Amino acid sequence: MKFTIKAPATSANLGPGFDTLGLALDLWNETTITPAKEFSAQVSGEGAGRLASGKNNLIVRAAQRVAERVGKSLPPFHAECVNRIPLSSGMGSSSAAILTGLLAGNVLLENPFSREEVLNLACEMEGHPDNVAPAMMGGLVVSAMENGKVIARQISVGMNVHVTIVLPNFYLPTKQARAALPKKVSMRNAIHNISRTALVIEAFRNGDLDLLGKVMSDKLHQPYRLKLISGAASAMEAAKEAGASAVALSGAGPSVIAFSMGEAGIGESMKRAYEAAGVEARIFRLGVASRGAELEKRE
Ligand code: HSE
Repeated sequence: MKFTIKAPATSANLGPGFDTLGLALDLWNETTITPAKEFSAQVSGEGAGRLASGKNNLIVRAAQRVAERVGKSLPPFHAECVNRIPLSSGMGSSSAAILTGLLAGNVLLENPFSREEVLNLACEMEGHPDNVAPAMMGGLVVSAMENGKVIARQISVGMNVHVTIVLPNFYLPTKQARAALPKKVSMRNAIHNISRTALVIEAFRNGDLDLLGKVMSDKLHQPYRLKLISGAASAMEAAKEAGASAVALSGAGPSVIAFSMGEAGIGESMKRAYEAAGVEARIFRLGVASRGAELEKRE
């Protein structure tokens, strides 16, 4: 049996919604699984030559997690990965790999788990739900962890918004970006984020880009992370000057995400801001992905 799984990029946090909000984006990794004598993975595109090619590959490890949970042994497979989501980018590459592996393991073991159970396993592996939930469900997703289980809901987005992500050539692992955060936050900053997170959701629901621009601000993570990423703060300013309605660090960074009605040079201005800080950058012009990870083809 041979099958292909597609998993989308995601942008988590969306400003104030730290570890809570995430948006699925129309940029997909496609992985074809074929039976093999031993576990192997071959990657083309993003991460080629950098990702593990044997049993330590994240897709293989995630598939093994399914087998461990059901107490069965996983038939070995080869994963042929066509990757479009850059690694360590703030665009959810690890979530896409985890979901791909879990879905593959689930198919190979004849579907012991529902999609909701697969999502719970993905949250366990990722440690926070805000990338894996939209990557699984598509669209804009609000998620929370309750007693180790995820509660996640998709919010319908009432607009055709342009999403521009600019990714600097700068390595910032999520672990490091999380280690930069304070252990305690002030009540004032917590209120800043709670109120704005609710309003960010309302802005997406109503297609209100003006509102999105007023409320997409954060006091819990961006101020600490922006100090680690040369050019990111000026890229955010440049996006606004070029006409973006709202802008945020994408996930834990180092990329920046901008929302706008048209594109009109927003990506180029952000790229120039990164370059002025001495960092090369790539522009991704994307839309929202309304669907999440799924089994695409089975032969
Ligand atoms: N919410 C997570 C963080 C997303 O900001 O650390 C990581 O991609």
